[in-house]
Amino acid sequence: MVNTLDKTASESVKAGIKAPSKETLLTPRFYITDFETAANLSLKEQETELQAMLTEMRNDYNRHHFVRDEDFKAGCWDHLDETTKEGFIEYLERSCISEFSGFLLFKELSRKIKDRNPILSEMFHLMARDEARHAGFLNKAMSDFNLSLDLGKVTKTRTYTFFPLEWVIYTVYLSEKIGYWRYIIIFRHLEKHPEKQFYPIFKKFENWCQDENRHGDIFNALLRSQPKLWNTWQSRLWSRFFLLSVFVTHTLTVHERASFYESLGLNATEFDQEVIRKTNETSARAFPSVLDVDHPEFYPRLQRCSDRNLKMKAIGESNAPKFIKNLRKLPLIAGIVGDLLRIYLLKPIDAEALRGTVR
Ligand SMILES: [Fe+2]
Ligand SMILES: [Fe+2]
Repeated sequence: MVNTLDKTASESVKAGIKAPSKETLLTPRFYITDFETAANLSLKEQETELQAMLTEMRNDYNRHHFVRDEDFKAGCWDHLDETTKEGFIEYLERSCISEFSGFLLFKELSRKIKDRNPILSEMFHLMARDEARHAGFLNKAMSDFNLSLDLGKVTKTRTYTFFPLEWVIYTVYLSEKIGYWRYIIIFRHLEKHPEKQFYPIFKKFENWCQDENRHGDIFNALLRSQPKLWNTWQSRLWSRFFLLSVFVTHTLTVHERASFYESLGLNATEFDQEVIRKTNETSARAFPSVLDVDHPEFYPRLQRCSDRNLKMKAIGESNAPKFIKNLRKLPLIAGIVGDLLRIYLLKPIDAEALRGTVR
């Protein structure tokens, strides 16, 4: 059996059930929101768009897509080296938790607003359907490595973070769109380098990411249906704040797991930058203001954050007393905060001014 569990964790779980990795600032979170505001959300301004998307979602293009076909049944992955296997299992776990977190939030939203906002409720119900499939498929993939996540238990034991609905709209929009770009970039890369495709799940990413793209489009319409989310100076600050938060989390996690991307033949830094560039570009369709990723300071500063984060990780894993560890981390944290602040203050791109032009 593949064993990525540490000793204490493995003692507390049954064989084959993976203990969820320790929660950190970077692990995917579970959210609850203000259901009252959701129930009262007026969709008038984007009604036609949302109706069209509802029809698309009802069509359920991917209903036969998430099937474990011959490639899965016939496969054997014992030959994979330990580093690849460990990195891959961690990737599967992280993806599964993040898909599952979407499922829980959408399901809860759909249930709580059912009688008062039926269109939105159905939309969330259909998105929850997709995310449940995604999470289930990833969990099944983990079982090929004799591990799986007990999602029922995860539901009960994880901490839930409260986000006002406005924040949910910004962040879920971003996570759907960044998810889309992550899946499609890996898919296209492996199309060109089939020898690097060490497991069949990657073949599923092309249609899979269309689900995420549709979810992102729904959130795009939700965002544009609320003028205060794009038509105010505050919305410009929030947009850039959430873009930067999502991007720095991406950079840090991708570099913490560089070996996984290398096993696919991808360079972690190039992959990270491409995903950020594309997501930022896409976001200009929804957000009033986006980041200038082409500014010469943008990527180098993000990269420095990641280098410092890796140093902090090494300090955390060292044998020094906790007090000394914290002391050594302090200047690194200050450095990260400083760099993020500088990125945040770079001259942004006015997406409203671009609207209706080239895109
Ligand atoms: Fe998903
Ligand atoms: Fe999604």
